[in-house]
Amino acid sequence: MAKKILVTGGTGYIGSHTVVELQQAGYDVVIVDNLSNSNIDVLDGIERITGKRPVFDKLDCTDFEAMKSLFAKYHFDGIIHFAASKAVGESVQQPLLYYRNNLVSLINLLELMPANQVKGIVFSSSCTVYGEPDYNPIDENAPIKPAASPYGNTKQINEEIIQDFVHSGAPIKSIILRYFNPIGAHPSAEIGELPLGVPQNLVPYITQTGIGVRYQLSVFGDDYHTPDGSCIRDFINVVDLAKAHVIAIERMLEDKSEEKVEIFNLGTGKGLSVLELIHVFEKVSGTALNYKIVGRREGDIEKIWAQPDKANNVLGWKAVETIEDTMASAWRWQLRLREKGVM
Ligand code: NAD
Ligand code: WQD
Repeated sequence: MAKKILVTGGTGYIGSHTVVELQQAGYDVVIVDNLSNSNIDVLDGIERITGKRPVFDKLDCTDFEAMKSLFAKYHFDGIIHFAASKAVGESVQQPLLYYRNNLVSLINLLELMPANQVKGIVFSSSCTVYGEPDYNPIDENAPIKPAASPYGNTKQINEEIIQDFVHSGAPIKSIILRYFNPIGAHPSAEIGELPLGVPQNLVPYITQTGIGVRYQLSVFGDDYHTPDGSCIRDFINVVDLAKAHVIAIERMLEDKSEEKVEIFNLGTGKGLSVLELIHVFEKVSGTALNYKIVGRREGDIEKIWAQPDKANNVLGWKAVETIEDTMASAWRWQLRLREKGVM
């Protein structure tokens, strides 16, 4: 019988791409999402790609009783926990909302796992835990820096909650995945990133400017200590990223590791600057992007990219998509949104 995976936040950006990969790998998926930052139509896109509509329950992970009923209704072999609030700026304005949503959601899941014989949980963490790194590429043993925002702090605290719970003897396993900068869309353009309102992240801002929904992209600073003066990031294709989750869940469910908690960086291992990424976009879209250099954005990290050797060697996972294909997928998705009249 196919293994059943609970995917929280499964109609969201990374969650939806992961559901596709899970279904294509033969897993049964149950999505829970409160649709606070995603749209139910995402299920249609997943169905068009995979030929299968995942089970969906509109639930809030912070609602313990609702989650308890869900666990009584299905037996889950494993969980991939994406559901969280993720806007860094908003988290500074509304810290309690972030602490409640991101911490209580995880605590509820952890509390329900042992009693329901759920063996493992994959947790979405972030390179934000490294702050401004002392060196690049950054590996998993690098020190965790004081969080620059309540959002970042929720990732650090959640990692600690998992470690503490497992070390208390809880009969579960966990794989913590630290994503670098996920970008792009499914190559079919059936699913992709759909930020509500004005995008805070670079790539949706680029594609929305390219298509004319936004007038101009502001490039936040060209006076950093980098070759072209703009910040450097490790942009990771979202489908590559999604595939790592399938490997991680299998690793836990099949006890491929003795370790109860494992942490992996998910990145390409290559740093690309903001200006370099803009030029890739211009090349693959055939569009000249209207952008302007402005002042630095408060709290930005100058440069960070991953040392992904552990994921490469231990998980047997590697980012394979080129940055050109990735930006082309983001652009196709933007064109599809226009076709559908979404924006
Ligand atoms: P997203 O907002 O697209 O997806 C998150 C989903 O969770 C949304 O569909 C939202 O409606 C849902 N959700 C939020 N709170 C919920 C709750 N209490 N109950 C049920 N559903 C809830 O975000 P994403 O980019 O897909 O990110 C997924 C995860 O990866 C998050 O935990 C995020 O912090 C983490 N992450 C994202 C990035 C990134 O740049 N996108 C980088 C590192 C880590
Ligand atoms: C990338 C670069 C900006 C927008 C954020 C979170 C982090 C993680 C990933 C979840 C930066 C520049 C951006 C714009 C710009 N998320 N930029 N003009 O800041 O690396 O990370 O998402 O865990 O926690 O902080 O991503 O896409 O916002 O910015 O010049 O309009 O693009 O200054 O250098 P960031 P980003």
